[in-house]
Amino acid sequence: MLKFENVTKTYDGGFKAVDSVSFTIKEGEFLVLIGPSGSGKSTTMKMINRMIPHTSGTISINGEDINSYNAAELRRSIGYVIQQIGLFPHYTIEKNIAIVPQLKGWNKKDIQLRVIELLELVGLDPKIYAQRYPKELSGGQQQRVGVARALASNPDIILMDEPFGALDPITRDQLQAELVTLQKKLKKTIVFVTHDMDEALKMGDRIAIMKDGKLLQLDTPEKLLHEPSHGFVEEFIGKHRIIQNPELMLVLDIMAEKIVTTSPHQSPEKAITLTRRRKITNLIVVDDDDKLLGIVSAYDLIKKLDSIETIEEIMVPAEPYLLDSASAKDAIIMIDDAPFGMIPIVNKDHKIMGLVTRGSLLSAMSNQWTETEDLS
Ligand SMILES: Nc1ncnc2c1ncn2[C@@H]1O[C@H](COP(=O)(O)OP(=O)(O)OP(=O)(O)O)[C@@H](O)[C@H]1O
Ligand SMILES: [Mg+2]
Repeated sequence: MLKFENVTKTYDGGFKAVDSVSFTIKEGEFLVLIGPSGSGKSTTMKMINRMIPHTSGTISINGEDINSYNAAELRRSIGYVIQQIGLFPHYTIEKNIAIVPQLKGWNKKDIQLRVIELLELVGLDPKIYAQRYPKELSGGQQQRVGVARALASNPDIILMDEPFGALDPITRDQLQAELVTLQKKLKKTIVFVTHDMDEALKMGDRIAIMKDGKLLQLDTPEKLLHEPSHGFVEEFIGKHRIIQNPELMLVLDIMAEKIVTTSPHQSPEKAITLTRRRKITNLIVVDDDDKLLGIVSAYDLIKKLDSIETIEEIMVPAEPYLLDSASAKDAIIMIDDAPFGMIPIVNKDHKIMGLVTRGSLLSAMSNQWTETEDLS
């Protein structure tokens, strides 16, 4: 666990690069720091391994103040990756990755095995790359070596300062996906700085938004998108982000709320009248507490009118349904299996909250597209 308590960095003349920042990162969590240039992201990160000493407040790792560690040891025990990866040009890839394990006094054999393991882990064939020099690798491959090097001594915490910032979009996409997978597997605590919101949304378990040295909001991607705490956060995120991330759009935001419900004890005649009056093709059947029971279609009602007493007899189970905390992506996946192309949305007490239809999904997505186009 990594904890900041009222941490401030003041430079000569009293300028506060980081201003009383407090937060806690859980073990194994992927935290993204994001904000405009000069907002204090790199400073915040570099204070963690004491590359920059903080002026006041407390930073602790697993309950222990970082100032009580030996600075060099602390730095070695925390992985660090930066944008211009800074591989040693006159060292082979193998030697570049081996630096920290060597400093830690590992034996030769262990180091060799570790290098092979790490190169494989980041998707570089050791037989091809171990003996090459950095300039013989592409930018993306060099960044992979950077990640391998940061993992070399098996640190619990890894700091990454815009590690993919200089890469082309396709390589960047690929490395982002790989890092997320790697992180899930190795369960490292990662602090990742970026100023690319798409990158942040894609990677972060939680995202911290900084401005002028202050931490404005630290929340999950979903929470940031739906409950931005400041106008600045909202503006910075940009509403159009949602389209690229349907998993971040909630069914709550796109469902139709004005739905027509009826009781299972209703007579088919009355139910038909209701569908005609409201110009709808299906009725949602609920009990006295508005809890979802099923769906009955106007078509079935007319067909079976003379053979049933109540609509309960021809009601179909309302499955699948979704909880109101589900995402648009869940709905997209499910819509093809939904009877009548409708997914009822219920709250945790199973009360009906709304309906997502193919139409409402389409119009939500296309509105988002329009918004995106308007913005660009
Ligand atoms: N040695 C220094 N002396 C004085 N001010 C400094 C020093 N180092 C950094 N700063 C200032 O501290 C502020 C925060 O810098 P920092 O590098 O943390 O920003 P950042 O959020 O990482 O920005 P970027 O996105 O451009 O990398 C900036 O205004 C910067 O000019
Ligand atoms: Mg920076």
